[in-house]
Amino acid sequence: MEPKRIVSGIRPTGDLHLGHYLGVLKNWVALQDEYQCFYFVADWHALTSEYRDPSIIEQSGRDMVVTWLGVGIDPEKSVIFRQSDIKTHAELFLLLSMITPLSWLERNPTYKELREELKEKDLGTFGFLGYPVLQAADIVIYHADKVPIGEDQLPHLELAREIVRRFNFIYGEAILTEPKEILTEAPKVAGLDGRKMSKSYKNAIFIYETQESLKEKVMQMLTDIKRQRRKDPGEPKDCNLYPLHEQYTQEAKRQKIQAGCRDASLGCVDCKHILLENLLGEFSPVWEKIDYYRGHMSLVDEILTEGCAKATRESDKTMEKVRSAMRLARQG
Ligand code: TRP
Repeated sequence: MEPKRIVSGIRPTGDLHLGHYLGVLKNWVALQDEYQCFYFVADWHALTSEYRDPSIIEQSGRDMVVTWLGVGIDPEKSVIFRQSDIKTHAELFLLLSMITPLSWLERNPTYKELREELKEKDLGTFGFLGYPVLQAADIVIYHADKVPIGEDQLPHLELAREIVRRFNFIYGEAILTEPKEILTEAPKVAGLDGRKMSKSYKNAIFIYETQESLKEKVMQMLTDIKRQRRKDPGEPKDCNLYPLHEQYTQEAKRQKIQAGCRDASLGCVDCKHILLENLLGEFSPVWEKIDYYRGHMSLVDEILTEGCAKATRESDKTMEKVRSAMRLARQG
């Protein structure tokens, strides 16, 4: 039997940070061994909100692929491509839009929230309202069985399922496949200032840092505010650093850190040095790979060209069925 299919994308709207890594990319890497994965740069989706200044999409799109390769997305195992290279996503988006009731889009909570959040961007556009229809097209064009997503994306996936059911009901059973979610539990890693890690808060540790910039950021991180002086005891649960120790520091060492924090025998600076060492151990090889690909961008272009060819092959098969179901197949 063919391995099951995974489809997922990330919008290229800036550099990827540890939140992306722990919440999304680490999972993507792991899923490659079990599934046939299609991972893509969702540049059209980025355009729904960044249409006034698309230069960020171009820059971060290419670099995003480099970062994926750096963390271990493997072009031998997975299909890596750019959404806008596969024009049939747009065709399917158009065709699905014919059968998608407006009310389904207007009631979408993610849509309402995001519009509110990005108020300054004027998202009262047709493209932005249609965002989840495009996402449905991305997914069903490859007959994805599973879509790894965070909780915020659940309404979009539910909508994709509803569109598939409606499509199959109108045009014939089982032409399109209903996708299910793989909910990835993102560990809560806070940014340097304790708020949610986000590019716009300028509090992010990026996947690609230099040794110096990483050190500077870790040393800047807010710890438990009860530890004003070196002798003040603290509580790991109230410290921003600790969730990162949970990811990058071994259990035995963590026990010691907890005890040392609570009886003040370990100072925050020393605690930070331990974390820094572990982060460097984890990310130095990633940076090396990223540096390598940045110096060999033609390799990245080749990977994208090959991914485009594979994605085209698979999506064309689906489109033939869809066109014929909607009586659009070319005669003769
Ligand atoms: N909407 C997703 C996000 O913001 C990105 C995305 C676009 C996506 N198309 C997709 C995710 C298809 C999974 C499958 O994160």
